[in-house]
Amino acid sequence: MKTIAFFNNKGGVGKTSLVYHLSWMFAEMGVNVVAADFDPQANLSAMFLPEDRLEQLWPDGEHPGTVLGCVAPIIRGVGDVKEPHVEPITDRLGLVVGDLGLSSFEDMLSAAWPYCMDRKENAFRHTSAFYRILLNASAQNDAELVLIDVGPNLGAINRAAIISADAVVVPLAPDLFSLQGLRNLGPSLRDWRGQ
Ligand SMILES: Nc1ncnc2c1ncn2[C@@H]1O[C@H](COP(=O)(O)OP(=O)(O)OP(=O)(O)O)[C@@H](O)[C@H]1O
Ligand SMILES: [Mg+2]
Repeated sequence: MKTIAFFNNKGGVGKTSLVYHLSWMFAEMGVNVVAADFDPQANLSAMFLPEDRLEQLWPDGEHPGTVLGCVAPIIRGVGDVKEPHVEPITDRLGLVVGDLGLSSFEDMLSAAWPYCMDRKENAFRHTSAFYRILLNASAQNDAELVLIDVGPNLGAINRAAIISADAVVVPLAPDLFSLQGLRNLGPSLRDWRGQ
């Protein structure tokens, strides 16, 4: 499994569009791909799936078919990650479906980070949740490549998602804000990896 996250803390630079189109491109080239939607805006899921399917995946109550359903036992403090549902898009392309409720995991991941520095095993269980979801999803689909979409911020969900990735692609608009933003981005990514 090779994992690539698409990230920029500046919004609207084309992260989701790139993950969507590259997933299709690699699948059409014969590579088995999992696309993972770890952005609580869930735009990637909305690009891949029609509204009636999203209504089924996001009912009132529990969401066993989304990434939130996978981490729900951790959030509730009753267990570890559940096996992810990988939504079939084609026979070579599967989607780990995003969820607007995923933001409820943010505080917990944020709190777990310093406990990882103290080598607390439970904190590693939280921080590695996304990585373990991706391992399982890629095994289910026999996927060589996992492309991860995240939201535009330097929060704890993104930290956990990005340290799951072998590589990070930073889509960039050629403007002053994006260039200024890179000054925060590089040091943050280096700090996260180092820690
Ligand atoms: N290469 C491109 N050229 C022109 N427009 C693009 C390109 N890529 C994406 N867009 C457009 O820019 C807008 C934002 O794209 P997208 O949602 O992919 O960005 P994002 O970085 O994922 O945003 P967010 O930070 O909100 O998650 C969309 O309207 C999309 O159609
Ligand atoms: Mg996006």
